[in-house]
Amino acid sequence: MTATKRATTVLHTRAELRAALQGTERPLGLVPTMGWLHEGHRTLMARARAENATTIATIFVNPRQFNEAADYQRYPRNEARDLAICADEAIDFVFAPAVEEIYPPGFDTTVSVGAVARPLEGAARPGHFEGVATVVAILFELIGADRSYFGQKDAQQVLVIRQMARDLAIPTEVIACPTVRQPDGLALSSRNVHLAPDERAAAPVLRRALLAGRARWESGERSAAAVREAMWEVLTAEPLAIPAYVSVADGRTLTELDRVIDDDPALLSLAVRFGATRLIDNEPLP
Ligand code: PAJ
Repeated sequence: MTATKRATTVLHTRAELRAALQGTERPLGLVPTMGWLHEGHRTLMARARAENATTIATIFVNPRQFNEAADYQRYPRNEARDLAICADEAIDFVFAPAVEEIYPPGFDTTVSVGAVARPLEGAARPGHFEGVATVVAILFELIGADRSYFGQKDAQQVLVIRQMARDLAIPTEVIACPTVRQPDGLALSSRNVHLAPDERAAAPVLRRALLAGRARWESGERSAAAVREAMWEVLTAEPLAIPAYVSVADGRTLTELDRVIDDDPALLSLAVRFGATRLIDNEPLP
């Protein structure tokens, strides 16, 4: 923090947003979020701050990307705390719209990305990536940022948004930033707040499983089935962990691999439930 830091301006409507962004210094860096900000979001903001003359973060819990109404309802929210974090990260503008500001009455368009949105999270959560692509397309259009920052923690989301921006000719560059973790390896996530103490204690098993997969690959194993097996073994040893999927996929298309070839990007990923809380994590190879 510095004494000369500019104040953060909070905007709620499209009209306020348009007026505020007119004539601001370029490049403009965007960090889209659903709030309940943590250190992962902060690193995206710090990177945006470092690389752009002006920065904007969005805080919008997007109803269209939740496939269960209950999950949307219980998503944690605290706008005052989030705004204080944005100010601390010296973000210039925060756009925190109401639902009707993004989806006005009569709204009836969906952005649907093809193959890369289908497996993994797309298969597990029908409609999720349509919701993500739709809201991010709207935010990209409204804000017209030069660069936008996303977390590698949601690796498939990055691929889906890149494909969407390319196909719809939206000139915002999509930048992926490394996953931020707790010291015990658990990736930071707004959903971690729902974990009971025993589930929280068990949750680093995701990271351990991914590292077991990586270790198997580093020891020379090239069979994707064997790498998956190494991850399963670690997950199934944890009684509180209910695995949803374990994947060894092509890092660009997310098609499941037979063999993990040296130097070709691959993505080890998994989804695991602890009670009602579903966590995801991934490890890119090489
Ligand atoms: P949200 O879950 O709030 O995450 C906002 C951004 O922070 C995403 O790009 C996400 O990948 C990144 N992020 C979350 N945890 C992280 C971690 N531990 N390390 C690094 N980055 C992390 O993702 C969404 O919101 C929404 O889908 C959104 C893109 C805003 C569209 O509604």
